[in-house]
Amino acid sequence: MAEIKQVGVLGAGLMGHGIAQVAAQAGYEVVLREVDEQTLTKGIHKIEKQLARAVEKGKSTREDSEAVRGRIHGTVHYRDLAPCDLVIEAITESLALKLEMWRELDEIVKPEAVFATNTSSLAVIDQAASTGRPGQFVGLHYFNPAQVMKLVEVVRCVTTTDAAFDVALQFARSEGKLAIPTKDKAGFIVNRLLVPYMLDAIRAYEEGVGSVSEIDDAMKAGAGHPMGPLALSDFVGLDTLGSICDVLFDEFRERRFAQPPTLRKMLSAGWFGRKSGMGFYDYSGEAPVSNPGI
Ligand code: CAA
Repeated sequence: MAEIKQVGVLGAGLMGHGIAQVAAQAGYEVVLREVDEQTLTKGIHKIEKQLARAVEKGKSTREDSEAVRGRIHGTVHYRDLAPCDLVIEAITESLALKLEMWRELDEIVKPEAVFATNTSSLAVIDQAASTGRPGQFVGLHYFNPAQVMKLVEVVRCVTTTDAAFDVALQFARSEGKLAIPTKDKAGFIVNRLLVPYMLDAIRAYEEGVGSVSEIDDAMKAGAGHPMGPLALSDFVGLDTLGSICDVLFDEFRERRFAQPPTLRKMLSAGWFGRKSGMGFYDYSGEAPVSNPGI
């Protein structure tokens, strides 16, 4: 299998822009693809902001930051991913959209390249089997913010070859990440444990155990978590959380994975957390305040 020099990243959203930045910081040439110029520019601006902040804080030199930026090539065309050695998808968490995308890319990207999905919960095999290279298909699951969180779950599905799995493991390690191998079971390690915890926090709120901020403050001060579970749900995105629990519930049929009514109603209202400005907290002011509507 070819040495990885060029990495394709599909999607410049919450996860994709971070995945692209981390790969460029590790010295890889990155082709970052979005559906249109406006969305692409938004993602690239986020990267530029992070790089500028690193220079301001003295964590990086201007030359290094410029070199990282120079390694990221934005595009709206699949054809620009043709020479990539590894392609990581971080598009919307919809199996139908992912399959449609892989069908197009499979024809374009060189046959020896490895494909990876950053899915949070969908079965990796369902995507692998839709391509002509199911042996060269893995999960590379990053955590938000990808630039900061140490972990990458490296997911092996039933068709993944040893060689492709090793390429993925070594790649994640070369980015300075802690690469933990996991099996292709819904939620892998982290979301299988973290999602029921976040859902339980919503149920605790519904049962009146505490207010939104009391639940969050209690878990920060009492369990040493950097964020409380409701702030974390907003941070992950309530739409993403909702789709992860649907997949987990479908797979395991256990109440602990079911969407609590409050989450369901918030999704109907279009409250997706930080990304939409409203979730368990209202982000429209200087500092987040509890959302009075829930
Ligand atoms: N991109 C890049 N860097 C970021 C960042 C971002 N979006 N957000 C924060 N940072 C950096 C800051 O620049 C800062 O860097 P320095 O230490 O170099 O100055 C550092 O992270 C700490 O940030 P802050 O001081 O602003 O704030 P903080 O100390 O509260 O940390 C946090 C912010 C890192 C997000 C922290 O609150 C945290 O770790 N929260 C938990 C995050 C978490 O659990 N993520 C996993 C979610 S689950 C998931 O992603 C999987 C899934 O499939 C759903």
